[in-house]
Amino acid sequence: MSGPSTYVPKSAIGRWFESRLPIMGLMHSSFVAYPTPKNLNYFWTFGGILSLMLGVQIITGIVLAMHYTPHVDYAFQSVEHIMRDVNWGWFLRYTHANGASMFFIAVYIHMLRGLYFGSYKAPREVLWILGVVIFLLMMATAFMGYVLPWGQMSFWGATVITNLFSAIPLVGESITTWLWGGYSVDNPTLNRFFSLHYLLPFMIAAVVVLHVWALHVSGQNNPTGVEVKDVKRDTVPFTPYATIKDGFAMVVFLAFFSWFIFYVPNYLGHPDNYIDANPMVTPAHIVPEWYFLPFYAILRAIPDKLGGVIAMFGSIAVLAFLPWLDTSRVKSASYRPVYRVFFWVFVVCGIGLGYLGAMPAEGGYVIASRIFTVYYFAFFLIIMPLLGLFETPKPLPASIADSVLARGGSASAVAAGAAHAPENK
Ligand code: HEM
Repeated sequence: MSGPSTYVPKSAIGRWFESRLPIMGLMHSSFVAYPTPKNLNYFWTFGGILSLMLGVQIITGIVLAMHYTPHVDYAFQSVEHIMRDVNWGWFLRYTHANGASMFFIAVYIHMLRGLYFGSYKAPREVLWILGVVIFLLMMATAFMGYVLPWGQMSFWGATVITNLFSAIPLVGESITTWLWGGYSVDNPTLNRFFSLHYLLPFMIAAVVVLHVWALHVSGQNNPTGVEVKDVKRDTVPFTPYATIKDGFAMVVFLAFFSWFIFYVPNYLGHPDNYIDANPMVTPAHIVPEWYFLPFYAILRAIPDKLGGVIAMFGSIAVLAFLPWLDTSRVKSASYRPVYRVFFWVFVVCGIGLGYLGAMPAEGGYVIASRIFTVYYFAFFLIIMPLLGLFETPKPLPASIADSVLARGGSASAVAAGAAHAPENK
């Protein structure tokens, strides 16, 4: 979609540089002239919001690392030192800790958007799978980051999750010992988690570059799921249209984020993490951060430890196969009345699993977790493959431009798009 750039720098120095490294042309074709479907709604601003959040996490994280000490005897104190003594330290720490939650809110919206509008379907399979890789890297990064303050939940969360690997037959115990760097979660574990927590965001950034590259090859999907047919009629240039809209969405998102930082900075955390880690005292309930709760509920829904671990990792791995599990010819749920119902049941099921992950693993909670877990897998493995064969979709609009006009747009809207057509080339 980006194609070869027709960009010519205005200054002589610019032209000299461009003929040696055409980076301005690359930027221009990717973020200025790039043809954007004209019917994108605000759900398409979350990719930009995620890029912003990745930047926020990397910058605050680098400064935090200047004041943090990755040693079991000093880690907890060094975080308190950041909160009390370092200039703006409280702000950096609260921004980074709440930033992780904001990142996950944004990524869940971004992924559900893809699921609703069929953005994982051809020709966007690789784009989607790169997204699943990013999601896995994000989970690993957040898990290791939570261990660093070395509070009670840090220590016991790390103990529970790393112990899961011991369920692997034959080699499980050796893998767990290798991960720990000893015979329990201890100083070597904290050290390697710090090192990896610093490294992974840069790996995420690298995969995001591939993700956006793949996006620019296939072009964006849109709420109708009908591909761009006529660049002149169906698209507008990325700048100014998408840049302004993304910028506005980022400001609104930052306002929401700020409310957490300035008014309820500990709301999303657990009070036990303000107690120094103590291997001799197990907390009454060990709960992960909210964004892991649905997967934690799936883990605990299965009575067998190995089975639970397989189900938990399987619940994420299954996402990578969606492009082939969904057999429908139609992408967007707006034209799939039956799929839409199953989709919303899936969303409720995900929220339900999140609630159950925070409850004790006993009685009715476990039974409910089992029912929701069955639906989670059935949605991907049974409903999606079969529904595509039996569902009768609603008629699709002939083109993106036609769908915009059908919703009360005017001929002038098409003319406005056409006016920018030369930039779209
Ligand atoms: C750090 C995390 C991520 C960043 C920075 C990121 C960035 C972006 C950007 C900038 C776009 C284009 C704008 C938009 O459609 O919102 C995009 C599109 C897309 N992303 Fe992501 N993404 C991330 C994670 C994910 C994940 C976890 C998935 C799925 C598992 C995913 C799947 C997709 C898909 C399918 C599209 C194309 C959507 C369409 O055109 O309809 N992304 N991403």
